[in-house]
This record gives sequence, C-alpha cells and structure tokens, in this order.
Amino acid sequence: FKKISTGNNDKGLKLYDPGYLNTAPVRSKISYIDGDEGILRYRGYPIEELAEKSTYMEVSYLIMYGNLPTKNQLADWEFALSQHSAVPQRILDIIQTMPNDAHPMGVLVNAISALSIFHPDANPAFQGLDVYKSKQVRDKQIARIIGKITTIAAATYLRLAGRPPVLPSKNLSYTENFLYMLDSMGNRSYKPNPRLARALDIIFILHAEHEMNCSTAATRHLSSSGVDVFTAIAGAVGALYGPLHGGANEAVLKMLSEIGTVENIPEFIEGVKARKRKLSGFGHRVYKNYDPRAKVLRKLADEVFSIVGRDPLIEIAVALEKVALSDEFFIKRKLYPNVDFYSGLIYRAMGFPPEFFTVLFAIPRMAGYLAHWRESLDDPDTKIMRPQQAYVGEWLRHYMPINERS
Ligand code: ACO
Repeated sequence: FKKISTGNNDKGLKLYDPGYLNTAPVRSKISYIDGDEGILRYRGYPIEELAEKSTYMEVSYLIMYGNLPTKNQLADWEFALSQHSAVPQRILDIIQTMPNDAHPMGVLVNAISALSIFHPDANPAFQGLDVYKSKQVRDKQIARIIGKITTIAAATYLRLAGRPPVLPSKNLSYTENFLYMLDSMGNRSYKPNPRLARALDIIFILHAEHEMNCSTAATRHLSSSGVDVFTAIAGAVGALYGPLHGGANEAVLKMLSEIGTVENIPEFIEGVKARKRKLSGFGHRVYKNYDPRAKVLRKLADEVFSIVGRDPLIEIAVALEKVALSDEFFIKRKLYPNVDFYSGLIYRAMGFPPEFFTVLFAIPRMAGYLAHWRESLDDPDTKIMRPQQAYVGEWLRHYMPINERS
C-alpha cells in the first residue's frame, strides 16, 4: 500500500474507521470468508466438507501448518499435544482457589495468563525477541497451549461442581479425553459416548478459526508488541469473553428461556424492533447471509437431541428464526442466525452449564489464535500495531490552580 503524503510533516493518509470496518492490517493465508455468499474456508477447504469428513485434530494441524497432515504427521501432532496436556499443580491450585461465583471465562483468562509465568523459557522478556525465531520453540508453545487448554478448561468446569481436577488420559482422542476429564470422576476405564464425542469434535472444527475477528485481532495486536504467546492468548480469550463476541451463545439461551413459549415470540420481536434489546445469536459483522457454521449446527442439534432427548427450547429457537427471517426489519439489515444461535442449545442438551459455553468456544479457537501468531512471526511486514486516532478534543489549554477554577 502506498503512503500518501503531501509534505515532510504530513504522515500520509489517515482513515477514520470505527471498528476497523474497512481496515486490513494483515495479509493472511489461514481462512477465507465471503460474508455475502455465506462461505467459510480453512486453508481453501470449505467448512462444510471439513465438518463432515475431518476431525478437530486434522483441522487444527491444517490451520496451523497449511496442509492436511499425513498419517505420521497426525500421529506426531496428537502425541505432542498429549505430551503437553499436564498442567502445573500450582495453576490447578489457582483455578481451585478462585471465588465460587467466578465466571469460568474469568478463570480461564487467569489460568492461561499464569502459564506465562511458568514458562520463562519461551518468554521474550527473559530470552529476547529472537526466541520465537526457532521452529522448535514455536512448535513447543503451540503444543503446550493446545495440549493444556482442555485440561485447564476441565479443571475450570469441575471447580464449578466443587470437584477436584482429573488427570488427562493419554489413550483417548483429543475430544474424548476432554469429555473423559469432565465426566469420569477419575475412573480410568470411563469412555465417553462416541456419538457425543464426535458431535463435540464437529463443534470444535466449526469454531477453530475465523480470520480477523475481535479476539484473533487481539492475539495479533498483543503479540505485535513482542509479548510472550501465553499473555497474547490470554488477552484474546479476554476479548472472547465479551457478550457481543464469544459470550453470545450464553445470551441466546438466557433469551430463549426469557421468551418461555412460542406464543411470546411476536411480542419479543416487537421489543427487538423497538430497540429495547438485541436478538442474541443473530447478525454478524461479516456474514450478511446465513452463517455456514450455523447451518451445520442446526443439523447437528437434531443428531445430539436424538441421543440425549429433545430440548424444549429448540421449538422456540426454530420458531424465532422463522419469524425473524420473514420480518422486514431483519431482512433489510441482513440479519441471519450466527454460529451462536444453535451452539448453546447443543451444549445445554449435552449437560454443560450456560456459563461454560464460551469456554467451549475458546478451546478449539486456540488453533486459530496460534496459527495467526505463527503467521505474524514469519511476516516481514509485521509491525507493532498502533492505530491512529482522529483527535476531537480541546486544542490547547493552560494549567489553572485549583482555587481559581469555577
Ligand atoms: N438484533 C437486533 N438488531 C440488530 C442485531 C441483532 N442481533 N444485530 C444488528 N442489528 C441491527 C443494528 O441495530 C443496526 O441497525 P440500524 O442500522 O438500524 O442502526 C444494524 O442491524 C446493523 O448492526 P451493527 O451493530 O452495525 O452491525 P455490526 O456488524 O456492527 O455488529 C454484531 C455485529 C455485534 C454481531 C451484532 O449483529 C450483534 O450485536 N449481534 C448480537 C450478538 C451476537 O449474536 N454476537 C455473536 C456474533 S458471532 C461471534 O462473535 C462468534
């Protein structure tokens, strides 16, 4: 991009671009979205194809390293993640000693941030900025974070139930091991339901990456300062915590419970149109069409309900979607269901409490965050991120002693 300037003191073109709607601060090869057509591809592969045929382990490798793994690469990847799945006892202690009413996402942010303190070997503050030039060092941090995140998330979940953390199992798949830690109560022969494990694996695939969303942009923003990768990821998870981003699926369930019955939908919709509240799980910064992930989730919901029973809130969700999609207010603004509209219903049917939903989003998104971190390290154009502002404040004022101020 050419810098436009009219003289020595002119730094060039400055755009006032609230929310960065028209700003592309990076070039990326990781994922592609066409929001008007409802297209999402990871490294060129359509999301629908990956959700149907692949696994989260393959997809996380694909996102990270650019190609689907060979058998050996997949085995090495799974082995590395499993090797790094144990979490330092003192971090588990931090999780256990959080206040009882702590939100799981608040706990998660703190636990990931604490990993930074436990891994000074990979911290540019101690080792210098060049530490991430080494492929081995990078790969180790990637395996550490993706390997440990399920163990941390499981400890966060068990804390909610007043139960102690469970050690990871090395004999199960990534997603099965996660369910094992949640439900086994330490019984080493416990095996999760394979159909539910597959459903969660598909959800993990759908949430693995989504280009320059708020939290991935936060990863890029923080890591551009040269901060260690754990702190950068903790910052990203902090952004994901927000109700307009990863917290929306929790808001969807609260909304559906508030609506209560299908008969109450018209009144609720009128309230949305009168701007008393938003329709949670609808609308997207990029998708101005049906979110392709929501389509997969809608089908997946039926599969999960066939195993665990039909959630009564699904009738309200389906009816609400139908009403909204035929209402001029939503049509005009191109508001369609997003990934959060159906995911909360599936999580609830699987027995997860609503406050844990965003953690289930954060786990697979580690792949996307870390792929962007890795890509930024190799990009010669990477610079510390420092947006401009359009200053609209007072021009020049002089200090007045306090007793002279009115
Ligand atoms: N309900 C009602 N009206 C909405 C909604 C909604 N969910 N979303 C957008 N609108 C309206 C806005 O009020 C605005 O109307 P106006 O032009 O008359 O003022 C118009 O649609 C455009 O909306 P913006 O807020 O400009 O859209 P933006 O791209 O900035 O916001 C966002 C996207 C934040 C996702 C928004 O649609 C929203 O708040 N949705 C509900 C929360 C949600 O589901 N978030 C999850 C997003 S997916 C994710 O992060 C994984």
